[in-house]
Amino acid sequence: MGIGVTSLTPKPTTAVNSRWRRIVTPIPVPQSVPMLQRLRASEPRSMAGMPPILWHDAEGFLVRDPFGNQWIDLTSGIVLANAGHSHPRILAAIRRATDQRLLATYAFASEARLRLLEKLVALAPIPDAKAILFSAGTEATECAIMLMRRHGQQFHRDKVGILSLSGNYHGRTLGAQLASGTKQPADWIERERVYHFQIPSPDCLRCPWGRREYDGCGSTCFQKGLESLVQRGVDLERIAGIILEPVPGWTTRPIPSDFAEAAAGWAKQHDVLLAFDEIQCGCGRTGKFFGCEHLGVAPDLIVLGKGLSSSLPVSAVIGRGEILDRPEPGEMSSTHGGNPVCAAAALENLQVIQDEQLVEAAARTGAVVLERLQSLRREFPERVSCVGGVGLFLSVHLRCPGKKNPDVALADVVAEEAVRRGVLMFPTGRGYLKFTPPLCIDPEAAMEAVDVIHQCLLEKMES
Ligand SMILES: Cc1ncc(COP(=O)(O)O)c(C=O)c1O
Repeated sequence: MGIGVTSLTPKPTTAVNSRWRRIVTPIPVPQSVPMLQRLRASEPRSMAGMPPILWHDAEGFLVRDPFGNQWIDLTSGIVLANAGHSHPRILAAIRRATDQRLLATYAFASEARLRLLEKLVALAPIPDAKAILFSAGTEATECAIMLMRRHGQQFHRDKVGILSLSGNYHGRTLGAQLASGTKQPADWIERERVYHFQIPSPDCLRCPWGRREYDGCGSTCFQKGLESLVQRGVDLERIAGIILEPVPGWTTRPIPSDFAEAAAGWAKQHDVLLAFDEIQCGCGRTGKFFGCEHLGVAPDLIVLGKGLSSSLPVSAVIGRGEILDRPEPGEMSSTHGGNPVCAAAALENLQVIQDEQLVEAAARTGAVVLERLQSLRREFPERVSCVGGVGLFLSVHLRCPGKKNPDVALADVVAEEAVRRGVLMFPTGRGYLKFTPPLCIDPEAAMEAVDVIHQCLLEKMES
């Protein structure tokens, strides 16, 4: 599994001209190919997996190239533009910030950082919270891991172990990759040597313990995960923290609340901290501001990114003051963390999400889209193994005919074909289609996008 390098050979398209979609050239656009090739020559292969279109401008839920093509965006530019691309209020806030002539401040005080931090602390379902700002999501993940390890060391020197879930994703820096449930980290660093352990995700469709369906077994699932570690000789007293996605980007469904409750209960009993990675599922994406609101479980730490600004790089760790206050001055900061322009963009973004009631919009539009996507499962039960999600965090999982294993090729070819018809999607390399448009998407445009997916699925299954 994995995504391949996309072809740069132009293929003809059928012209599309709807209210929102416009396709007037072959894809990739022949004039764009030299530039795409220069990009390939200048950056590594790891960057060559996205559909070969040249982004020029993006507005709301639409993305345009410079050649007259326009797409309904189901990617939100990798699940970040929650308030919509180039929101006029966010653009204005960025302009005001740059006009102030203050482009960087490091850890020196600034009003922009203060206002964003106060907003985050007020939003968080964590009492006596403080927050710290970074740029990339992975930096915030790394900070949460460091805080959990340092918290553990108060109890004894070796209490630094981190527990994460297979199939979750937390970023690309070292600690974040160790926490991510992909196979790659094992290739270049042995997780368990640095006391990082994984237990199976409570993914009920592919139950790691072989159950047919969920029957209130979340707590047992968590306990079995711990038992499997003990059987391998892991000393659970050395665990300092648990990090997980409350609504994983891979399934887009909240994990069972009894699993989360069991994790939180065990953590409390054993002086272990619980961190929720809300970088993808937070900021209204799931129809609630925080994904963990679906679970009714509050963690010790929350990690945010992506939809926190819908634009410039901003991430954050929010947590109980006593946890965040452990590092001494100078031990936890980042050159660009709380950059005044980025902070202004993030603050305005949070206000837009509130004023335009985008959390409610995500819940409303998502429910209608989910219902329509579920009809795909009814229509193609042999090929669609599951459709699920919450808010505008939805996914359609495809399988090989009559089998359980994901149909990676079909999912990626459907995503590619949708792009050729004016619906922007990305290949997942794992056999599913992800439906994550900006939360401001017009419901009719969302339904039009589902119709395109339906048509592509129908044609590609037959070919
Ligand atoms: C759940 C989750 N955590 C962490 C990250 C890493 O964020 P970034 O790419 O900003 O470092 C991502 C990015 O996709 C994510 O989805």
